Amino acid sequence: MKNTRWEDKRVIVTGGASFIGSHLVDRLVTIGAKVTVIDNFSSGTLENLSQSQHKINIINMDLEWCNLTEVVNAFKDHEIVFHLAATHGGRGYINTHPADVSSNFAIDHHVFEASLKTNIEKVISASSACAYPTKLQDTTDSNYLLREEDSNPFKLNEPLSADIEYGWAKLIGEIQLIAFIKQYGLKGCSLRFVTAYGPRENETHAIIALIYKALEKMDPYHIWGTGEQDRDFTYVSDIVEGTVLAAEKVTDGTPINLGTGIRYKLKDVAAKVFDLMGWKPKKTVFDTSKPVGVATRALDISRAKKLLNWEPKISLEEGLQKTINWYTKTHARKGYVDEKVLMERLIT
Ligand SMILES: NC(=O)c1ccc[n+]([C@@H]2O[C@H](COP(=O)([O-])OP(=O)(O)OC[C@H]3O[C@@H](n4cnc5c(N)ncnc54)[C@H](O)[C@@H]3O)[C@@H](O)[C@H]2O)c1
Repeated sequence: MKNTRWEDKRVIVTGGASFIGSHLVDRLVTIGAKVTVIDNFSSGTLENLSQSQHKINIINMDLEWCNLTEVVNAFKDHEIVFHLAATHGGRGYINTHPADVSSNFAIDHHVFEASLKTNIEKVISASSACAYPTKLQDTTDSNYLLREEDSNPFKLNEPLSADIEYGWAKLIGEIQLIAFIKQYGLKGCSLRFVTAYGPRENETHAIIALIYKALEKMDPYHIWGTGEQDRDFTYVSDIVEGTVLAAEKVTDGTPINLGTGIRYKLKDVAAKVFDLMGWKPKKTVFDTSKPVGVATRALDISRAKKLLNWEPKISLEEGLQKTINWYTKTHARKGYVDEKVLMERLIT
């Protein structure tokens, strides 16, 4: 449904061909915005954009290796930038590509610089729960909810810490955005997404990997880690709704958590996937040789409730069902699990 605030608003979505980006594009088109996607299609696909493709402008551009004039020309005459382009993947990918994810430092800088040069009204930038110190997330069965102050990009004289190179790049991206706000009056904010899932995500991410292995009837079924690690799984439509609200309401660089505040252990998510798919392996193996990240992670979402009047709406069961429906409709069973697909963002 069109929304007067967004009708004919000229917006850019960097990384708009991505999993989250493409859902954001669909939503923006529905509410009446005029959308330009900028993406280099390194992990995003045109297929992700099939619902909106005929209504949007698509620019194939590499935001790491572009020159400023090129980005400025693409940004010109737009009002809002949703910045989601990033070298990114699930835990297996980010752990094994520390140099590649460092390209995010450059991508972010180019986007902020071009936004400034083209008088963009607001930049809403995708950050991550990886911007939090891992030492707050190392105890299994913790009930601690990460608060934005635990990684405060405004307090640069206090110690900061983040989760590997990818998390540092996200945290520095937040700091860069605030620097442009402080020095030049740019407006916007960063949103800390946490383990988003839903249709169009790839198998390097936990939930899609669990569904992929169940579709292939992997038996013994492999779960990375002990299965005791927990995460705050957030359905993509909730992330998209929070992102649009942030563009309406926040200007001062404040980072905002978008999660659910609820944690599920990986072994319990796998059990739900088996139930919903009507199949169960005879044997499950917990593969502790694989990268799994922190022991526990869930976000305090009181700031999002207060500033955005936002709350997640989709339960894990509902989100899993929608994701399984999509995955089984769009992926044929091959009869084996390709380990590379779990690490490398291959298009299946
Ligand atoms: N999926 C999650 O759980 C999650 C969690 C926290 C944060 N995020 C962040 O949200 C954003 C979207 O995530 P996603 O899961 O949809 O990721 P994704 O990998 O599907 O999206 C990244 C997009 O950026 C594009 N891209 C990469 N490098 C580029 C470059 N140099 N120039 C132009 N485009 C480039 C890719 O082609 C892709 O479309 C990313 O910034 C990611 O870091 C995602």
